[in-house]
Amino acid sequence: MLNQEVHDKVVQAFEAKFGAHPEIVSYAPGRIEVLGNHTDYNEGYVLSAAIDKGTFFAVSPAADAKVTLEALDMGETYSCDIAEVAPIKDGMTWANYVIGTFNWLFDGNPAAAGKGFNAVFGGNIPLGAGLSSSAALEMATVLALAAIYGIERDRTTLAKIGQKAEHTFAGCPCGLLDQASSLYGKAGALVKSDFRFCRFENVDLGPTVAFMMVKSNAKHALVDGAYASRRQACEDAARYFADVLRKGSVTHLRDVTMAEWVLYRGGLSETTAKRAVHPIGEDERVLQASELLAKGDLKGFGALMYDSHESSRSWFENSCEELDAIVDAAKAIPAVYGARLSGGGFGGSCCLLVDPTAADAIATAITKEYKAKFGDEPTCSLIQPSDGAHLI
Ligand code: GLA
Repeated sequence: MLNQEVHDKVVQAFEAKFGAHPEIVSYAPGRIEVLGNHTDYNEGYVLSAAIDKGTFFAVSPAADAKVTLEALDMGETYSCDIAEVAPIKDGMTWANYVIGTFNWLFDGNPAAAGKGFNAVFGGNIPLGAGLSSSAALEMATVLALAAIYGIERDRTTLAKIGQKAEHTFAGCPCGLLDQASSLYGKAGALVKSDFRFCRFENVDLGPTVAFMMVKSNAKHALVDGAYASRRQACEDAARYFADVLRKGSVTHLRDVTMAEWVLYRGGLSETTAKRAVHPIGEDERVLQASELLAKGDLKGFGALMYDSHESSRSWFENSCEELDAIVDAAKAIPAVYGARLSGGGFGGSCCLLVDPTAADAIATAITKEYKAKFGDEPTCSLIQPSDGAHLI
């Protein structure tokens, strides 16, 4: 469904449910991760983009202290009192992204809001595809609620509010990539993030390339422990390197070079050493890729995307056979410059850098290979990097 149609559907549903036009409507897009996998919580670098699909959030203040939320795509309504806001463990867990964001917008004391709110939201980001539909919901929520309650915060603080909701309400110890990409996206450009200093800049991509997302049918769930265990391994490795290198100056894997990893990896368990080298290599690739992009070297950029996937496959072990098959199929197609898994991994989607004029042929070729291996078809969609979250 087109964004305008989603917008109209959400507004109409709001009017039908609450009998008036919403006071505020916000929009926040999903994101693709182009290069820099699992580097955000290691205080490293990422190239990403906001996509042309997202979530609309329509809201008005309530007359009383009640929060009423309708998830249009789920056909479910959740409600609670502002004094009762707490993580939902069973049932309507989707509401965690909204009430968790509300909770942290008020620094953990949502009763201070005084009044509740009435909201309806809906979107067109495919769920479970690794396109950060949850971060889009958090960012649409935080922009709309900040406007409703007259709260002013800079964008990075808003991103961190969503991240805190994710950690404490949804139970995923994610970095800041998804929220920041949703907020800082720009049409036709990538977002280059430096997560140590929370610096976000837009880098033009040029008109001759686009991305194709290929969604595997492999399940992608980051709250089941695999993501958390990767993060833990990276933090353990950073502590080890802080000991053997320059105690004090190393706090994250961002501070460790590939040469240092080669020299000192022997002191780590084999698994921890394998996990650590992935974000270290990814940081180097993001920096190199940014230079190549500035020179218009798309082939060189794409080669680094393939290297990134290889590192996921063999070191970080956050790929799966479906994602590997997509990347292997992509390698044989000249109109694809590069391909890799995008986001947390363990399923979800691959991100391909492509010549958009060959999009149909690329989708056909990849679908054929995938179907021959797994019997079902992946979903291929061309993505244009788009503007970030905003009020309508
Ligand atoms: C998920 C997380 C992000 C980031 C990516 C991997 O999308 O939510 O914070 O860690 O995985 O790069």
